[in-house]
Amino acid sequence: MTLKPKRVRDSQVVLSQLMQLTDANPMGYVHGGVIMRLVDEAGGIAATKHAGRPAVTVAIDSMSFYSSIHVGNLVTLKASLNYVGRTSMEVGVRVEAEDLLTGEVTHTNSAYCVYVALGDDGKPVPVPPLIAETEEEKRRMEEGRRRQERRLRERYGVE
Ligand SMILES: CC(C)(COP(=O)(O)OP(=O)(O)OC[C@H]1O[C@@H](n2cnc3c(N)ncnc32)[C@H](O)[C@@H]1OP(=O)(O)O)[C@@H](O)C(=O)NCCC(=O)NCCS
Repeated sequence: MTLKPKRVRDSQVVLSQLMQLTDANPMGYVHGGVIMRLVDEAGGIAATKHAGRPAVTVAIDSMSFYSSIHVGNLVTLKASLNYVGRTSMEVGVRVEAEDLLTGEVTHTNSAYCVYVALGDDGKPVPVPPLIAETEEEKRRMEEGRRRQERRLRERYGVE
């Protein structure tokens, strides 16, 4: 069966969450793990929307934090599909923190996550092809394809 291609914008996700005391250390800085979980959640929603199937995380590229996030900040995650293989999908997630009192928005980090769509038997199933409409989407797709090649080289050790 041929799957109907879907556009990048069909599965884009924006997720916002207010940082609470329970998200932070005693200094009021939000734990990196809290942000990692939200990144995985936003990426997983985008992947599931694209696939129309449950999707599991198979890889998350290394994550760096460029500035700290504080209790009371509104964290917003923007997730967008970059590239799809046969059963896998690479999602880029951008994280921003907003100081609600000043309106200042800071880009704190970005990450690439890879998900695999699963069938009812729990095995990988094909996902719809991805349509990149803009020049930026086309560039991201090509970069995503190269990153995925590198991940598979690292996993299987083949050239
Ligand atoms: C995801 C999972 C079903 C894939 O199983 P698998 O035996 O590796 O299946 P395949 O070899 O057919 O690979 C499936 C897809 O994943 C991709 N893939 C495999 N390893 C990868 C890696 N390290 N990085 C990126 N993509 C990877 C493959 O290229 C393939 O994509 P394609 O069909 O687009 O080419 C299996 O690894 C799994 O269940 N992992 C646990 C997932 C999970 O529970 N995640 C939550 C965190 S605990």
